[in-house]
Amino acid sequence: MTKNRVHNFSAGPGALPIPVLVRAKQELIELPHKGMSVLEISHRSDTFNEIIQTTKNNLRSLLDIPDNYHILFLSGGASLQFSMVPMNFLRNSGEIAYYMVGGTWGEKAIEQAVREGDARRLWDGTSERFSRMPSFNEIKPISSGAYVHITSNETIQGIQLQWEPTFGVPLICDMSSDFLSRSVSVTNYCLMYAGVQKNVGPAGVTVVIIREDMLERIPDGLHSMLDYRVHVSKDSGYNTPPVFSIYMANLVTQWLLEDVGGLAKMDSINQEKANLLYSTIDESSGFYIGHSHKESRSIMNVTWRIEDQTLEKKFVKEAYDGGLHNLKGHRSVGGLRASIYNAVTLESVQALQDFMIDFQYRWG
Ligand SMILES: Cc1ncc(COP(=O)(O)O)c(C=O)c1O
Repeated sequence: MTKNRVHNFSAGPGALPIPVLVRAKQELIELPHKGMSVLEISHRSDTFNEIIQTTKNNLRSLLDIPDNYHILFLSGGASLQFSMVPMNFLRNSGEIAYYMVGGTWGEKAIEQAVREGDARRLWDGTSERFSRMPSFNEIKPISSGAYVHITSNETIQGIQLQWEPTFGVPLICDMSSDFLSRSVSVTNYCLMYAGVQKNVGPAGVTVVIIREDMLERIPDGLHSMLDYRVHVSKDSGYNTPPVFSIYMANLVTQWLLEDVGGLAKMDSINQEKANLLYSTIDESSGFYIGHSHKESRSIMNVTWRIEDQTLEKKFVKEAYDGGLHNLKGHRSVGGLRASIYNAVTLESVQALQDFMIDFQYRWG
């Protein structure tokens, strides 16, 4: 059934685990004992309620999420969170929000925040072409403010924060492209969000994990769909939620728990995959040049160039013809990018490594 599948290094929507796709296929016509598919049942039915509650329980187990955090499934992508966060926590607060701008997504987040109030850059990697994340010592201590916003993994540049930040003010994190790739200390954050289309399911839903006490800071008068309190009070059912994406997130989180064995195991597999590609870059005697500084290398998105940039088009074409798809870098950075999310297997990454070595042998 899977023999014609290619190695998929897409940055998102990304590859999904085969056992999950197989099960979704089986259940697409009829959920066990329900007589209809998940696409056809009411989001207010007991059946769907069970799917939502199981997905939340799976997330609580995987990330060790305490009871004083709510888990929401919202529409509008991670991009809507760029607006909802400052609307809920910066508007009318009279305080400053600090943004760590490590790459394109951090930039997009602050672009929306300045519309709501005083949003400032805590750190900015623009002058270094977003080639690294800051070290802990470079961040100036913050003891007051509305919140600090960070992006843990910059998908386009392929850089990732390798230390867990803590601040004296509420910390908010866009984890879209490394959510569930490794363990994190949830209690360091007052809010984290992630579009699911990298590691957790098909596009359509954004997971938001928010600490209970943050709800008290929200100003009155927000539109209902943009007010976290409304979504908490309706348990993500204020409007019709993206049922299929939530159902798939349920299967993926179950796969992570039962087939993979949790996030520590997932992390070590992800490290192993990333090491294969980074070691190939490092051992290429300058034929391949990594975009990221070593200490900021992402284990999810590996970005690099070929020293002779005219070869990059050939690399992408030959790789594609050999069944290795979606390796072209983002248009804003150029070069090459392999997104090796949770569901991209070690075998796929080994196939890419073999191709890189062979390509260098032939063209280097
Ligand atoms: C880190 C990060 N944040 C935000 C987004 C935007 O997500 P969405 O397209 O779901 O709005 C992306 C999308 O790739 C991303 O990688």
